[in-house]
Amino acid sequence: MKDERLLEELKTRLDIVDVISDYVELKRAGQNYKGLCPFHSEKTPSFMVSPDKQIFHCFGCGVGGNVIHFVIKYENLSFPESLRFLAKKAGIDLKEYRVQSGDDGLREKLLEIHAVAAQVFAENLKKSKTASSYLKKRGLTEETIHSFSLGYALKEWHHLSNYLKEKGFPRAALSQSGIVSSGEKGIYDTFRDRIMFPIVDLQGGIIAFGGRVMDESQPKYLNSPDTPLFKKGETLYGLAHAKDGVRKKGYAVIVEGYFDVIVCHHYGFTNAIAPLGTALTPGHLQRLKRFTKKAVLVFDGDEAGKAAAKRSVPILLEQGFTSKILLLPTDDDPDSFLRKNGEKRFADLVSGAVSPIDFVMAVSKGDRTEMVHEALRIISSAGDVIMKEELVRELSEKTGLRETILREEMEGRGKRPKGKAAITSSPTPSPRGFCYDDELLLLSAVIAFPEKLDHILQTVAMEEFSNPTVRRILEKLGTGGHGESFESILSSLGDEEKALVTKLTFHPGFDHEVVERNIEDCVRSMAERRSAEQRKQLHERIRQAEKKGDQDLLYALLKERQRLIKEAR
Ligand code: CTP
Ligand code: MN
Repeated sequence: MKDERLLEELKTRLDIVDVISDYVELKRAGQNYKGLCPFHSEKTPSFMVSPDKQIFHCFGCGVGGNVIHFVIKYENLSFPESLRFLAKKAGIDLKEYRVQSGDDGLREKLLEIHAVAAQVFAENLKKSKTASSYLKKRGLTEETIHSFSLGYALKEWHHLSNYLKEKGFPRAALSQSGIVSSGEKGIYDTFRDRIMFPIVDLQGGIIAFGGRVMDESQPKYLNSPDTPLFKKGETLYGLAHAKDGVRKKGYAVIVEGYFDVIVCHHYGFTNAIAPLGTALTPGHLQRLKRFTKKAVLVFDGDEAGKAAAKRSVPILLEQGFTSKILLLPTDDDPDSFLRKNGEKRFADLVSGAVSPIDFVMAVSKGDRTEMVHEALRIISSAGDVIMKEELVRELSEKTGLRETILREEMEGRGKRPKGKAAITSSPTPSPRGFCYDDELLLLSAVIAFPEKLDHILQTVAMEEFSNPTVRRILEKLGTGGHGESFESILSSLGDEEKALVTKLTFHPGFDHEVVERNIEDCVRSMAERRSAEQRKQLHERIRQAEKKGDQDLLYALLKERQRLIKEAR
């Protein structure tokens, strides 16, 4: 596999400490480095990086892996994408390596087409007085236009498509890009006479476009169709620009439109993002989750805005988001509000955004009972039991109704047996605090001293490991032989296994000096456990045989017991 060679090259050129230092402030701690985990929020560092082993592990949330896993998780990339990302960082020319992506390079081609198209649009904008003055009229500066790579599609049918054809892009790829449409007379430009908004993915690649007319014609906005690069219903405009802002501020501001995002950023609200003309979906939030689970939703204050907010709140709760809602004055959107009133007043509004409960209480049109039911319906969509509890408490405080009454009412509505929800959605226990049993210690020994594996497996059979994660890792290590590197074995493991391996690498649970003795102790106690288990089972069968009066069976079982006792001595 060509990827292997690239992996080797990456390993020699990149140090995990350098790469992670771009994202996390790391401080030396003995042989390792320590910092605040970027994957969950914490105040004291439990995120460790080992320069010797070239791995990381967070003792707070349990994630771990090598530098590639870090990039996959942090940048939300696929494996081949992360290789490309790191190769770029390391200054490796990828043409020498054919990174497998499983689609014969279609993705790559489409990305290239979009990049070229964006360049063409940007050039057009520079040359078009009308388009430039439209953007100026809407308050955008050169800097903002540049930073969002805005452009202009000419009022022509074949300007871009001809250019792309001349550039040698295959016709099939052009049609699949959505930038070019096919009609009876051949292909033509999808976007004509529109201000163009490139839609950028998290790696900085352009995956689609939105285009706005400059007059009152319809449709006001046109978006790329779904393509292999782009799913409109899951894409958040501005996320690539906003991810650092979101991390820094700890929450996202979700607005409705292209201009809202851009103008928010211009005024310093660098955590602003927007769905692309669709309602908020779980897909949007799953993408946002990697950066934050907190959001302020901003809607127009009119009826349509309220309705949109009502639809969005349950989805946010279901996805475990802590959210606040901000209804702007009627007739305003963030763009117009900011330009009229400035950032200070907008910041005040954002910090005054209300909880979902307050929102329902404010907008519910029914009487008090209906309002409570509406609130309960929204609360019951919360995916997290703790969040649900807190919302019920809030509703109780605000209405004066007892929590137990509210809870009963809510559970009755959901038509599920009482207590069921609490069980299915109970939070996973914190992985803090270890409990090393024999199996973990043996695995730990094998991680530190792979040459011990043979000996261990001669004494303990694989089936005797009752912890499935431990067993899977040992199986991988066993079949990997001793030729395979630690890294490549690590790469072939699932998330859970990886996390256990990295955890045990940092905290083996025993001193390396006494590893031999530890192995013998563990092996012995596993053997003891095994024979105790066998004796217990035998005892049970003897009891059954006595009860049934089956003398032959009883005799055989007693003999078996004798043998076991002898063996144990
Ligand atoms: N939208 C869309 N297609 C349309 C209309 C709207 O995709 N035909 C999306 C766009 O992302 C748009 C958002 O919905 O930005 C909100 O639409 P709207 O409120 O009509 O426009 P504004 O964002 O306020 O645009 P502008 O300020 O340019 O009028
Ligand atoms: Mn607007």
